[in-house]
Amino acid sequence: MQFTMFSAAILVGGVCLLSYYVIIKTFKERLSPNPHLPPGSLGWPFIGETFEYLRTGVAGQHHRFVRDRMEKYDPQVFKTSLLGESMIVFCGPAGNKFLFRNENKLLKIWWPSSVRRLLKSSLANMIGDEAKRMRSVLLTFLDPHALERNIERMDLATRDHIRTCWEGKQEVKVHPTVNVYTFEMAFRMFTSIEDCGHILKLAAQFDIFLRGVISFAINIPGTRFHCAVKAADAIREELRLLARQRREALDKKMASPTQDLLSHLLVTSYAGGKFLSELEIVDNILLLLFASHDTTTSAITCVMKYLAELPEVYRMVLKEQLDIAKSKEPGVLLKWEDLQKMRYSSNVVSEVMRLLPPVRGGFREAIVDFTYAGYTIPKGSKLIWDTGSTHMDPILFPEAEEFDVSRFEGAGPAPNSYVPFGGGPRMCMGNVYARAQILVFLHNIVKRFEWDLSTPDEKLVYDPMPTPSQGLPVRLRPHQSSV
Ligand code: HEM
Repeated sequence: MQFTMFSAAILVGGVCLLSYYVIIKTFKERLSPNPHLPPGSLGWPFIGETFEYLRTGVAGQHHRFVRDRMEKYDPQVFKTSLLGESMIVFCGPAGNKFLFRNENKLLKIWWPSSVRRLLKSSLANMIGDEAKRMRSVLLTFLDPHALERNIERMDLATRDHIRTCWEGKQEVKVHPTVNVYTFEMAFRMFTSIEDCGHILKLAAQFDIFLRGVISFAINIPGTRFHCAVKAADAIREELRLLARQRREALDKKMASPTQDLLSHLLVTSYAGGKFLSELEIVDNILLLLFASHDTTTSAITCVMKYLAELPEVYRMVLKEQLDIAKSKEPGVLLKWEDLQKMRYSSNVVSEVMRLLPPVRGGFREAIVDFTYAGYTIPKGSKLIWDTGSTHMDPILFPEAEEFDVSRFEGAGPAPNSYVPFGGGPRMCMGNVYARAQILVFLHNIVKRFEWDLSTPDEKLVYDPMPTPSQGLPVRLRPHQSSV
């Protein structure tokens, strides 16, 4: 009881302080607006245009928020206010290029406070040379050279998953099932944990962590953020234990230095022979779990949705995958070279991520005052690039609402117009890894099944990634003969 009253007092105090800060800040901005700022609306005090932004997401039309304002204010850049922050949205290929090119010169990466506080000593909180070094350590595990070694393991894990979660079922809910798959895969590849019980225990904590990563960072019992802090601490403790055991095993030559991400981070030195601390290792594994999980789950789910809706596209994917399967001895696992032959399937994945990008965009912060398109961008401004400004532009992508795989044939889209993974020095480091995992899954699922949507009118909502509102139940039709 005492505890509850204490929490309530802190909550009320916190809210008063926050309101005072926000009211002063927003009224200052509104009463004396800088005439050279980009045009746009800051909406309601504090709330800004957040509800409008969320509403377009719930309606499955996330790009409308940006495209409507590009038409109304300026197709190059406009201002808005989201989650209590005034933000400047850079639009079109030129806007993307500007943000991607000027990292560490005019601007730096920016994450909401909840992300920064939960991912403590990871790459998410690093900039400049420190970030460059950490990226190079992580990239040597995620780049094509390293991935070549891991495709067979990915294939094996995917076959296990399909056997246990799809075979023998008439109906499967795609989103929650793929959610388990991406989680198992991440734990296998990053830490070599394969025990189901252990994975389920960690998955439960991880779900709580994920729900609080993008939330108001108020650390009071009962808030999403508080639960996420506790869950992150529990996962960190598990990972720390695992790191200690692995270090011992590596010292005794009972584990391989290339076994998984954990081994890789323990044995890789940087900047003249320095090794990562235990905390850095644990926090970066947590970052990679966060960055890879929901994104890949959303992409695979959306590919499954489109393949059910577009039988002609499904047939072409099936043909390509069967040709690859038939070219191999029965039972032989997929290799890196096989993925290079999946040209059509890879273009299908690209088109799905154009229409339904798992990540809507990214944040930056101006580190100096600068000018863009004739407007002043003051130091400290929060900046956004948004996939909607280019992916749904009818000039860059004619009949932009239509699914058309041929857009990715030949030279493909114009530079800086197709950006599901961002660009520049902070571009997604897992893009090759993610595409490989999606293709391995696609290979295994189309070889075994066709499927129909059980609820064809099901809506997609942005939560914040595209997610079918009922989990995308599908009726499975196994092929008569399997390769
Ligand atoms: C379809 C799946 C994925 C999509 C669409 C995606 C997209 C993105 C985007 C848009 C960014 C932000 C770029 C920016 O702010 O400019 C990002 C960052 C990042 N992603 Fe991914 N991602 C995916 C999968 C993965 C995977 C599988 C991993 C790791 C195994 C990963 C690791 C990261 C990391 C570490 C960052 C932060 C990079 C930095 O700050 O330097 N992502 N991702």
